Amino acid sequence: MHKKILVGVAWPYVNGDIHLGHLAGYLIPADIVARYQRLRGNDVLMVSGSDTHGTPITVEADKKGVQPAEIVKQYHQNDIQLFKKYRLSYNLYTSTQTENHKRVVQELFLDLLKNDYIVKGTMKQYFATQDNQFLPDRYVEGTCPYCKAGQQRSDQCESCGRWIEDGELIDPVSKLSGSPVELKDTEHYFLDFSKLDNELKQYVEDKKDIWRNWVWKETNGWLKEGMKKRAITRDMDWAIDLPVEEILKLDKSKQLENYDGKKIYVWFEAVIGYLSAPQEWAVLESENEDIIFTKGESQDTDWQNWWLNQDSEHYYFMGQDNLVFHTLMWPAQLIGSKRGYKLPTHVVVNKFMNYEGKKFSKSRGWTIDSAQMADKFGTDAVRYYISANLPEHKEANFTWEGFTDAINNELVANFGNLVNRSLTFFAARYDSHLTIDDYKIDTKVQAKVSTCFAKTSSLLDMAEISPAVNEIMALAKFGNQYFETQAIWKVIKEKPEEAEEIMLNLLNLLANLSVLIAPILPNSSSKLMAMLGINLPGVSVDLDLWQPQVRNSFALSSAPEILFTKLDRDQVVSEKV
Ligand code: MF3
Ligand code: ZN
Repeated sequence: MHKKILVGVAWPYVNGDIHLGHLAGYLIPADIVARYQRLRGNDVLMVSGSDTHGTPITVEADKKGVQPAEIVKQYHQNDIQLFKKYRLSYNLYTSTQTENHKRVVQELFLDLLKNDYIVKGTMKQYFATQDNQFLPDRYVEGTCPYCKAGQQRSDQCESCGRWIEDGELIDPVSKLSGSPVELKDTEHYFLDFSKLDNELKQYVEDKKDIWRNWVWKETNGWLKEGMKKRAITRDMDWAIDLPVEEILKLDKSKQLENYDGKKIYVWFEAVIGYLSAPQEWAVLESENEDIIFTKGESQDTDWQNWWLNQDSEHYYFMGQDNLVFHTLMWPAQLIGSKRGYKLPTHVVVNKFMNYEGKKFSKSRGWTIDSAQMADKFGTDAVRYYISANLPEHKEANFTWEGFTDAINNELVANFGNLVNRSLTFFAARYDSHLTIDDYKIDTKVQAKVSTCFAKTSSLLDMAEISPAVNEIMALAKFGNQYFETQAIWKVIKEKPEEAEEIMLNLLNLLANLSVLIAPILPNSSSKLMAMLGINLPGVSVDLDLWQPQVRNSFALSSAPEILFTKLDRDQVVSEKV
């Protein structure tokens, strides 16, 4: 029986900075888990889209002197092209600009308002007297009240990670004009986390053995500190409208004095994309240039079977700066709706991947163009490096030397070598085809393969990807040792029958490896399968392909081809900025 699996991937802001850190932080890990779960025969719905509202976008638009909508259009397209290049297998990659998203956001807002989890209140917001306007988050900077780091945004300190309430920032100034700003009362809606305290504590407690230890601890830290009310509306333009008409039908106590310029805050709204995107996906029929869209033939199309089904499993992927929004805020929104929505099962958070020891930063020019990198070195080479070196439990560090070593010493010298030496021998000495009627696979080879499937599946179920990559590479290493100790090139002269068995053992190892690497290296996996002439049935719901396979017959479909090429160290290292 298959499972319904939702893979929610953090929605990247479209302000133009998808770099290797994003690919390693959440994009590629999510894709690997989605591909693996599909191979298991589960019904996977992988969704995300562009996070298009709020000040990250307007700041970028101001910088470029264009309208926010233009920024959104341009970067959304860029991101789609990049994601296709990296073979990210979204069932739907959309954006928060759709009517569907707006509808679902307004519905959830009304649910929470009716259920008294959204309450109104007054807060102080920065007001620039000079320009006669309220200034949202990123338009005000000052000193963090906790760690005293300077030039911090008014909503969250980048240095210590704490949320900053309006009014707490020290010496705030407008980023637009540099002039001081003052706090003025403004009426807003708040999500009252304190009313959900017990539910949230219970929810998090249940995740103790499921979430990474550091993720669980950090979430608990937030809970212990006590969750405060958070404003979920803002005085700003570039955001989703409040459902004013519907609000006006409710009790007076739920109504604001006026709604001028008040919109829904981007963080409240973007996470709702995980709920709106499946609804969009369910009714879509074909792809267009604004989305990535796929629907497997065997897939269910009723979104409720993912969302209103407690037996479904929901995986979320994100970088560490998004942690609390997914471990507490999104669950709070879902619980508060009282609609019976499935809560996040696995919240898979990665730490940062740094670049040569420093944080990636587009604005400081400390970054790698990930599209160019794929063009130069191949998508799978980059996917390999990333998946073998993920910041799953501690920060990781990308270096060009490390990249060269990983490709040359692991991918080429281990995996590629096994493929190449086995297939060239097969082509040269067996004319690329061989069948043994009463073939029995070597028990040691068989055991290694079975163990590898079992170990990788328990790791990948928990989204522990780098250790799973290790297991797969260890199997390839075993294959190389097997090749050497069996010395087929000698045996073939004295005991040709025995040599045939060895040959089939090697080919079976490759066939199994081609499945095992499929989630990690989709291009190389298809190439290898094609070369081996194995026609696996396509991915299909209820068909578990994550199983050892034994064949007694192989026939290569074409001349063996090199899977990975060695990198020139000097040339690669010259990429360093
Ligand atoms: N746009 C946010 C970022 O890039 C992530 C939002 S994840 C979401 O950090 F789920 F809330 F959309
Ligand atoms: Zn701080």
